[in-house]
Amino acid sequence: MSGPLSARRDQTGDTEVKALRGVNLKIESGEFISIAGPSGSGKTTLMNLIGCIDTLDEGEILIEGRVVSVLSKEEKTTFRREKLGFIFQSYNLIPVLTAFENVAFSLQLLGISNGEIKERTMAILKEVGLEGMENRRPGKLSGGQQQRVAIARALVKNPVIVLADEPTANLDSHTGEDILKLMEVMNQKHGTTFIFSTHDKMVMDFARRLVYLHDGEFFSDERRE
Ligand SMILES: Nc1ncnc2c1ncn2[C@@H]1O[C@H](COP(=O)(O)OP(=O)(O)OP(=O)(O)O)[C@@H](O)[C@H]1O
Ligand SMILES: [Mg+2]
Repeated sequence: MSGPLSARRDQTGDTEVKALRGVNLKIESGEFISIAGPSGSGKTTLMNLIGCIDTLDEGEILIEGRVVSVLSKEEKTTFRREKLGFIFQSYNLIPVLTAFENVAFSLQLLGISNGEIKERTMAILKEVGLEGMENRRPGKLSGGQQQRVAIARALVKNPVIVLADEPTANLDSHTGEDILKLMEVMNQKHGTTFIFSTHDKMVMDFARRLVYLHDGEFFSDERRE
């Protein structure tokens, strides 16, 4: 990322919120980094910029050396599909699809053969601890299990970055810790960069690097290795 970045939210009325100001961040491949800060500090805005979901006003975002902030809407969609994995606070699984189908879907969008889809989907579901539950729909899974499906869905395409906006916010602290540990194992095993946001101290403690935002500005950037 090359900055400084700034982004505006809210075009609905006369008010204009500068959600991010002067943010400059370089994330190395394979990092396990948390974007932290109180509510309204700009965490989601920053995650959505990196995730090619929102557009920025100033600055630019580079992923693997490519300036992604100038891509068209269609190009961003393709880039997200191929290169980025997303994990959400509310899991965002498709309720009518089974765990297997939810994960397989992200590969079907990439035009991969059915045989390979099956193999990769079964393997990743096993890795996240859901062997035997492949045919359950989200409604028949606990919150933690649903988040495991979401992790599998994000990772199955071997993305460059997994972005997780408050991934444990809907889970009890014990389950939240299990999910963070799973993310940590996946980060180490696959070398995938994980960027997760939180305002929860327990979650921050898992990060190997902690970037703290306050009122849309950088407050601190701390490495703990
Ligand atoms: N859709 C929106 N319309 C208007 N203002 C918004 C919108 N989304 C965010 N904002 C504003 O942008 C700023 C940053 O919001 P953002 O959602 O990035 O914060 P956050 O750190 O993710 O907060 P939270 O912890 O509550 O999720 C805040 O001032 C917020 O009020
Ligand atoms: Mg947020």
